[in-house]
Amino acid sequence: PLKAVILIGGPQKGTRFRPLSFEVPKPLFPVAGVPMVQHHIEACAKVPGMKEILLMGFYQPNEALSRFLVSAQQEFKVPIRYLQEYAALGTGGGIYHFRDQILSGGAEAFFVLNADVCSEFPLQEMLEFRQQHGDMHSFVILGTTANRTQALNYGCIVANTGTQEVQHYVEKPSTFVSEIINCGIYLFTPAIFQHIGEVFQRNQQELALCPYLGEESSNGWQRAEVIRLEQDVFTALAGSGKLYVYKTDGFWSQIKSAGSAIYASRLYLNQYSKSHPERLAQNKPGGPVIRGNVYIHPTASIDSTAVDHTCVLNTIVGWDSTIGRWARVEGTPSDPNPNDPYAKIDSETLFRDGRLTPSITILGCSVTIPAEVVILNSIVLPHKELSRSYKNQIIL
Ligand code: GDD
Ligand code: GTP
Repeated sequence: PLKAVILIGGPQKGTRFRPLSFEVPKPLFPVAGVPMVQHHIEACAKVPGMKEILLMGFYQPNEALSRFLVSAQQEFKVPIRYLQEYAALGTGGGIYHFRDQILSGGAEAFFVLNADVCSEFPLQEMLEFRQQHGDMHSFVILGTTANRTQALNYGCIVANTGTQEVQHYVEKPSTFVSEIINCGIYLFTPAIFQHIGEVFQRNQQELALCPYLGEESSNGWQRAEVIRLEQDVFTALAGSGKLYVYKTDGFWSQIKSAGSAIYASRLYLNQYSKSHPERLAQNKPGGPVIRGNVYIHPTASIDSTAVDHTCVLNTIVGWDSTIGRWARVEGTPSDPNPNDPYAKIDSETLFRDGRLTPSITILGCSVTIPAEVVILNSIVLPHKELSRSYKNQIIL
């Protein structure tokens, strides 16, 4: 049997996602029509032998999350549970804390997936790769190629060109290490917990020697449980013959900012023409004109003349917002450089040199845009009624 863990993090991260993350936690933000992590769940549920999918994070369980879990279980016919960490335990601490739950039912191997990525999720290929290379006890990281400058923003992997064994792993290095980056998608066996356990024990010993290190939390135990898979575990495993990289040419991107959610939507929509043609809007007599890969939510009604009068480009429109006729709402896309096949999206900060970085336009929920105005590269907070045009502004 196999299992999968999706690391969804918690509320204090995802600030780059505001104001969108006010309404719904980032892992549930819709990408190509479905919640971000539904793409992960769907890919995991397809793998033969998948017994359970665990979402792991430090969000307080809420109604939106519970409803999503119930409907996803029904749709994908696999048990899905949420395991809540008592604090942010890092990318390795949570899975270590809940190791009994992950291994229950006799899991021989399990996937760990970062929630904030979009991907083709070549999980079956990772299993096959492990069978061919290495042995059934090795761990596999999904890797992809980035360009030399952007690679510095990711975990960087140096591997043996023949065997693909990981020789060096450096998380977000300050100088160039490798163009092969960590996609945040892993295949582990239960043996990974021995390696995480060693880090845990070392953390505990260090705390015993310098108790003041544990002061921030009520006891040192908690502090020792914070473990980063990347820096604490992969770096040590590199060169040991246990860690391999499976390189994919399939699409992959991080989803950090709202702009990258638009890019990720486009990547998934392209994939839908093969995997889910039924999700794409079709041109029908008397219906609106559809150009390219378009997802229309079942609750939306689009007038057949909808191509005229109002123009919305590179924008995320929150729920219950209205845009008047002849209005133009436009953002600047943050797409990767189209002339570089290995370019990734830059997760821009909101401000650069004291100025708002031109980015996609975001309308929070219940925003009203009147007729005949232009809103350009702006972020409009929820429940605003605008009366004029704006450019490069955050409208509070
Ligand atoms: N459950 C849980 N608990 N999840 C967490 C925690 C935590 O304490 N901290 C982070 N996560 C989740 C995030 O929600 C995200 O899905 C994932 O773990 C990684 O988040 P970060 O720690 O912010 O790392 P990153 O995204 O900057 O970099 C990671 O992903 C890159 C690929 O997107 C690293 O793994 C890089 O090496 C990798 O290249
Ligand atoms: P065609 O010759 O069929 O292309 O006719 P058209 O000029 O009516 O073009 P189309 O039906 O594509 O729709 C309107 C065009 O006007 C779009 O290409 C918009 O990008 C452009 N446009 C430019 N400024 C505005 C604006 O402020 N509001 C709207 N609604 N559209 C604008």
